[in-house]
Amino acid sequence: MNAPDFYETDRAVAEYLLFHYGTPSQILPWKSGPTDALEYPARCISECLDLSLLPSHARALDLGCAVGRSTFELARHCSEVVGIDYSHRFIEVARQLQQHGSIPYAYAEEGLLTTPATATVPAEIDRERVKFEQGNAQALRPDLSTFDVVLMANLVDRLPDPRRCLDSLPGLVRPGGQLILTTPCTWLEEYTARPQWLGGFEENGRPIRTLETLQAVLDPHFTLTRALDLPFLIREHARKFQWSVALATVWIRH
Ligand SMILES: C[S@@+](CC[C@H](N)C(=O)[O-])C[C@H]1O[C@@H](n2cnc3c(N)ncnc32)[C@H](O)[C@@H]1O
Repeated sequence: MNAPDFYETDRAVAEYLLFHYGTPSQILPWKSGPTDALEYPARCISECLDLSLLPSHARALDLGCAVGRSTFELARHCSEVVGIDYSHRFIEVARQLQQHGSIPYAYAEEGLLTTPATATVPAEIDRERVKFEQGNAQALRPDLSTFDVVLMANLVDRLPDPRRCLDSLPGLVRPGGQLILTTPCTWLEEYTARPQWLGGFEENGRPIRTLETLQAVLDPHFTLTRALDLPFLIREHARKFQWSVALATVWIRH
């Protein structure tokens, strides 16, 4: 299986439904553990979005939305939200959540043992504001128009050509609009050929970090207003977790 095909698997659907909609005790059934890493898809919005900059009837885009939790969270503040992901499976599941508000699934305990659960969109969120579509962040349909908020959570280091995606951002974010870009900077050749990495290598004996390249590419069109560390926790099974700390940056379109 190619690494990008992971996002079309049953395992990925279950892992991401738990990551996005699981309760703290479902995700982390232990007394110890990084509880501040829970609720990441909601914290990408609650900790990064500047509500004071939003116009009334704001329009938002969640690129690489997976099963859609951040897309729904954006709908607390924006009257129209589009979630786009390359995975057909993720979009199918996100659409069911949009239509029905909940979906049954089962998350991994150990080996083939699973626990049945229900992923539920918080009841107070107006799901009518949200639309999901399958698409490629590196070749978006030209008639998407522009947005007051664009979120790209943990996407850039999963793209074959992240610069191509970054180059489209000035055309997607309205002047005064916000770009929220988070990444754990996990550069892997399975997803991104080495020449396309934005950081994590040496050039002329100098270490190049992802933040430096993001600034070089985005600075002509955006002002970096905040950089913060956002921990997140993905449960693989009851006794195995991925604990990561994403670099979150917030940019305002000139
Ligand atoms: C690491 S996951 C992050 C998902 C979600 N934003 C989150 O924070 O939980 C990366 C996501 O990017 C999606 N993706 C990968 N390549 C893509 C592309 N070319 N266009 C749009 N989405 C893509 C994957 O299907 C997956 O849902």
